[in-house]
Amino acid sequence: MIPRVLEPEAMDTAEDAAEYDAMDHSGVNVRFVADFLASHGPCRGGTILDVGTGTARIPLELCRVDPNAMVRAVDLAEHMLALGRKNVQEAGLTDRIRLEKVDAKGFPYPDRSFEAVISNSIVHHIPEPAAALAEMVRLVAPGGTLFCRDLARPESSEHLEQLVTMYAGRESASARDLLAASLHAALTLNEVRAIVSAMGFSADDVALTSDRHWTWISRFIE
Ligand SMILES: C[S@@+](CC[C@H](N)C(=O)[O-])C[C@H]1O[C@@H](n2cnc3c(N)ncnc32)[C@H](O)[C@@H]1O
Repeated sequence: MIPRVLEPEAMDTAEDAAEYDAMDHSGVNVRFVADFLASHGPCRGGTILDVGTGTARIPLELCRVDPNAMVRAVDLAEHMLALGRKNVQEAGLTDRIRLEKVDAKGFPYPDRSFEAVISNSIVHHIPEPAAALAEMVRLVAPGGTLFCRDLARPESSEHLEQLVTMYAGRESASARDLLAASLHAALTLNEVRAIVSAMGFSADDVALTSDRHWTWISRFIE
């Protein structure tokens, strides 16, 4: 098993944000939203919290697909949020998507205040992610859903390189480097399951959902 190698937590230069936003993650985002809605059902009029929203591509997709979706989209990186605001404005969705600078390790929101908490591809950025995951749990309302997905660290360098070639082979060198660094920084399925079990959830709530992703889905009882 290759060791975890951390990458910077926030992606907070103008170049990081512009480069990230220019990459085509549309397939991943469409699947994320479809899988979330399949678990949660249609949005019910409460607010959905998107943790580590980047440039708000997932909130935009969610609002495109579900006319009832209302989203609070948070990130630690000003430059990501600035591009996110521009994307939301251009889509005419400023009344449904609100962006805020917030650190996922300590949210300024009351317990159980969101209909659902969703998050894509942030856990690998956080050196000790248990606190951020516990915060996400704290914020889900009764009857709501926690839907958290990220990359899974491959077992070997060879497998990692195969994934980079498969999913970023046609992208720029820096996009390939970014995917390789993210896969190196990711948790394994078992590492995520250990955190989730320690918080009292079933380890089975976390599953491998593609050749490079794990997903944690828990539904909270009313
Ligand atoms: C790989 S991007 C994913 C963005 C978006 N979720 C997507 O799927 O397109 C990871 C994002 O998490 C943000 N991030 C990292 N640590 C964070 C923290 N502690 N609190 C909030 N956001 C954080 C980064 O700034 C970055 O925008």
